[in-house]
Amino acid sequence: MSVRGGETRYVEPDDCEELSLHDLVAESPVIVCCGPGGVGKTTISAVLALQAAREGRRACVVTVDPARRLADSLGIDVLENAPTVIDGDWPGTLSALMLDTKRTFDDLVDRYSRSSDQAETIRQNRLYQNLVGALSGTQEYMAMEKLYELAENSDFDVVVVDTPPTRNALDLLDAPRRLTHFLENRLFRALLLPTRAYLRAVSFATQAVLRTIAKVAGAEIVQDAVAFFQAFQGMEEGFHARASAVRALLADPSTSYVIVTSPRTDAVGEASFFADKLSDTGVVASGLVVNRVHPRFGGPGVRIPPAKEGSDLEQIVANFESLQAVHDQEERIFADLVDRVAPAPVGRVPLLSSDVHDLAGLTAVADELFGDSLDTRRF
Ligand SMILES: Nc1ncnc2c1ncn2[C@@H]1O[C@H](COP(=O)(O)OP(=O)(O)O)[C@@H](O)[C@H]1O
Ligand SMILES: [Mg+2]
Repeated sequence: MSVRGGETRYVEPDDCEELSLHDLVAESPVIVCCGPGGVGKTTISAVLALQAAREGRRACVVTVDPARRLADSLGIDVLENAPTVIDGDWPGTLSALMLDTKRTFDDLVDRYSRSSDQAETIRQNRLYQNLVGALSGTQEYMAMEKLYELAENSDFDVVVVDTPPTRNALDLLDAPRRLTHFLENRLFRALLLPTRAYLRAVSFATQAVLRTIAKVAGAEIVQDAVAFFQAFQGMEEGFHARASAVRALLADPSTSYVIVTSPRTDAVGEASFFADKLSDTGVVASGLVVNRVHPRFGGPGVRIPPAKEGSDLEQIVANFESLQAVHDQEERIFADLVDRVAPAPVGRVPLLSSDVHDLAGLTAVADELFGDSLDTRRF
């Protein structure tokens, strides 16, 4: 299946100038940051949005589970589920929000319910409450849903979305469809049949499934399910249309996908798997950021002077050489991934001496990635 309906985004290198990461944040309306967990995805998402603001754009970043200190120092609060403006000295604007999966789902229910009573019945339903937290793909879908809502909002020129750690790109791109598919499930449709007479007409197989569920999970759960799908009636169409619109945005050629990884074998393996799955659906990675690399000092042309045996300089040279070896080893670890995403630009962010927990930290990372003057490219 191709999310883009067979259309691919690959453009012959001759036909277009390669975009740098710098161009990407200056031009792209939607940037999806994806990749394994714990590599700095939330940090890099915020940095890309900050850089867009430094370029004069009105930028918004949707973060998923940001580190507490970062959220606190940026003043973003999970209770909001709406963008908070972050003050700073840049020509554009920077807003951020912390994704609240449940609130986003509730908002969707509100949007498509016929009355506030219907919305309230759904929100109070135990199956719904469990569904919101436990159905796989819900968090992914809600991140994408929020992205869509903000991208539609004319207050922003660019929306950067941090995503839950997802191994398979399809889990992300297909999340809207999978959720609506669940909601349109045939078994549950059978449950919606209004009277007992109809229930008798429900296939034997369905009844057997229901009996099994009731036996294993308790009759209450079946009642909750019936009540939920009854309450949900009439909203499927709205949900369906919305999910299609979200999918269309994710497949739009102007939507950029930036893969974030660390230079570790396991993370690079996961990021490569993700890049492959992404291209299987016809979506090409627009950029790669390798975070927490050991920097290369002095550049390739630097000659190390001979040091006297036993001297301090000899010790320093030895340290320098082992750092260089670590750097070279890391470059080898992600070399294949660089080739795989080519001609997408690659940015490297060094391992900093402390966590990135505030605006100053984000600015330091943005300087590393984009150069501290806008015309300088460090990498
Ligand atoms: N380049 C870096 N140097 C030092 N610490 C970093 C760097 N990038 C991220 N961190 C820190 O690593 C931790 C995880 O980063 P985070 O962005 O939350 O990762 P993820 O979203 O991928 O789980 C945070 O404490 C963050 O401050
Ligand atoms: Mg994160």
